[in-house]
Amino acid sequence: MSTFPVSDNVARMHTSSTLKAAQTAAKLRADGVEVIDLTVGEPDFETPEFIKEYAREGLQMGLTKYTPSSGLKMFQESIASFYAERFGAAFPPGEVVASCGGKQALFNAACTILNPGDELLIPKPYWVTFPEIGTFCDAKDVFIDTEETDFILTADQVRDAITDKTKLIIINSPNNPTGRVIPSAEMRKIIETCAEKRVYVLTDECYLFFAYPPAEVFTSAVLPAELRDFVCVAGSFSKTYAMTGWRIGYTIANPDWTREIIKLQSHSATHPTSFVQYACAKAMQNADESIKAVNSMLVEYERRRNWLIPALNEVAGFKCSMPEGAFYAFLDVRELLGDGFASSAEVADYLLREAFVVVTDGAGFGADGFLRVSYATSMENLHNAVERIAGLSLSKTTQAF
Ligand SMILES: Cc1ncc(COP(=O)(O)O)c(C=O)c1O
Repeated sequence: MSTFPVSDNVARMHTSSTLKAAQTAAKLRADGVEVIDLTVGEPDFETPEFIKEYAREGLQMGLTKYTPSSGLKMFQESIASFYAERFGAAFPPGEVVASCGGKQALFNAACTILNPGDELLIPKPYWVTFPEIGTFCDAKDVFIDTEETDFILTADQVRDAITDKTKLIIINSPNNPTGRVIPSAEMRKIIETCAEKRVYVLTDECYLFFAYPPAEVFTSAVLPAELRDFVCVAGSFSKTYAMTGWRIGYTIANPDWTREIIKLQSHSATHPTSFVQYACAKAMQNADESIKAVNSMLVEYERRRNWLIPALNEVAGFKCSMPEGAFYAFLDVRELLGDGFASSAEVADYLLREAFVVVTDGAGFGADGFLRVSYATSMENLHNAVERIAGLSLSKTTQAF
């Protein structure tokens, strides 16, 4: 046993289960096994060339020194004008803080508002990091079950969950792991409900733009000022522009919240990489080109989704609703549980051992009985994976577990 005196805050946290699944896949691959990895939480596309060119330009210009903790002024301004042009949002550039990815944006926002004992509302299933942030802050994670509304959070569910201890809710739409999208009107209602009760809202908009029609792209940055007073948007370039390794995201929040976020960040990462901020600012200024790049990726994701979901539903024991966004299918395998498999983790393990297909168990997302299947991989991989799985005998009568 380790004698390292880890802090209580960190000791309470758990290692990311999504990373564990990806590591299993990587290990098998290193051993020479032809694994099909459907755990990936990042686009399989390259960062658009014009954004790379902007980064090179930033380096050539000598943007290699510290920037303000809030980020370059041009970064703040270009985010504000992009949101104004694309969504009709009206917030001043000073409400934008550049951060090292959506993850740091979320961490900054939550850590500047949560106190020990505060209740943090987290709709279930959730992205693995949300409860860990609450745990780190010694807040009380309170989960809202959304299964009865087919994983789409409603204002009524939020109202029922609010107590006089509720401080914050984290909402992620389009959602990881379910791929579901909360309709814009319902999002407004949820945020109105929270504001009425003086509960703050952190909207994780990491999959902004990843909504397939007729689902609509929605950012809470468009809300009127009296609602935005309670909202912090956590944005990210990672998925939208296939830039996961660049580590850049941002928050948009009211001036008080923003001031505290800057204070916290000034003592941790300080700011994201200077020339990366420049590249993103230029990409936002070149909005048409950026949206064109996003749309070309979206067309491909949608094509894969449209093939994958019906194909998965053909497998006996699998049930999957059509996701409206992100790049995940959320597979209900509860029909297989009982005599054959004890849990979805066992189903995932079986798929790995017998078909060399790696998927993520739902338990890590608070949804035992489900598997997350990422389609951020080639159509060929998806075809091969489904073919391998369809060749197995999954049903409990034939499964010898
Ligand atoms: C729901 C959600 N939010 C936030 C993030 C963080 O992304 P990043 O820190 O790369 O911007 C991810 C990444 O997987 C995610 O799935």
